[in-house]
Amino acid sequence: MKRIGMLTSGGDCQALNAAMRGVVKSLSNCLSDLEIYGFLDGFRGLIYGDYRMLSGRDFSGILTKGGTILGSSRTPFKTLDEPGDDGINKVEAMKKNYRDLSLDCLVILGGNGSHKTANRLREEGLNIVTLPKTIDNDLYGTDMTFGFQSAVDIATGAIDCIHTTADSHRRIFIVEIMGHKTGWLTLNAGMAGGADIILIPEIPYEMDKIINAIEERDRKGSKFTILAVAEGALSKDRAALSKREFKELMKDYPYPSVSYEIADEIRKRTDREVRVTVPGHMQRGGSPCPYDRVFASRLGAEAGKLIAEEEYGFMVGIRNREIVKVPLAEVAGKLKTLDPGASIVKEAKLLGISFGD
Ligand code: F6P
Repeated sequence: MKRIGMLTSGGDCQALNAAMRGVVKSLSNCLSDLEIYGFLDGFRGLIYGDYRMLSGRDFSGILTKGGTILGSSRTPFKTLDEPGDDGINKVEAMKKNYRDLSLDCLVILGGNGSHKTANRLREEGLNIVTLPKTIDNDLYGTDMTFGFQSAVDIATGAIDCIHTTADSHRRIFIVEIMGHKTGWLTLNAGMAGGADIILIPEIPYEMDKIINAIEERDRKGSKFTILAVAEGALSKDRAALSKREFKELMKDYPYPSVSYEIADEIRKRTDREVRVTVPGHMQRGGSPCPYDRVFASRLGAEAGKLIAEEEYGFMVGIRNREIVKVPLAEVAGKLKTLDPGASIVKEAKLLGISFGD
């Protein structure tokens, strides 16, 4: 008999349900007796003891369902030791609820912030197994996170749609893609969608280089230019600022996001018509793509096996196409950024894509 808690934390993504289904299917095949406690809305559910008892039936028919049947929310790691408005000690409350329910293990599906909290709970003595979710693909210790490929599909679809209208109107288009700190999604969707200029946080841009790339395309007779811009794209000047200086500067920032600022600059310097499209949270929505369904199911299956064998304190990830277990202590607090010298960047440049650098 095992009692398993489960929660989904942070920004949602596709295949969260597929992953949970994988865990439960695998566990049910390994163990004869299983109780599942689903905590609602992320760590909040564990803090306040807000849970639902779930059975195998709850996980039936959800392989293709977007979102999360448990709901999600953000409990920032940096606020973990600050009492909430109600004065509650969050870490102690989570430990108490775990112990009161006599859980054998807590399965956490989360991204970067959630992995810091997961590791903290491990240090506090809880048995934890995690699964790497996020459309950003920025979780350390795994080659890929689930949700990423589905988001690449959606962002690519947005760029595909923009191509035809950009061509008709001879316009410059900016498609802003999610990813505040890393450019995995923008680079992959940008290449898949045939973007001409790709701007990502890891490769700070210079406005002059962007203008040169546009003018070069004009000279060659191209009717339009498409820029795939990560929401966290940074100019060289801003990348050189300290965190505090950057925060100060952004206080009076007059644009909704960096894409609108770049659009304004291009308009001023080229006299061309520029439009901005922001697919936004669409990138996290809808049914997972087939790759993510298989990937999340594989991760879930291995997580179930680990729990049945009482191997705790790991994130289940993928390396070199094999599913692996990675100690949580190795994962927590580290961001997987895109190396500007990576071969994919070199290949993109060989294709003539400008990074504005
Ligand atoms: O972490 C996933 C993500 O979608 C990022 O790409 C994005 O910057 C952020 O979450 C948006 O967060 P929220 O859903 O809180 O607006």
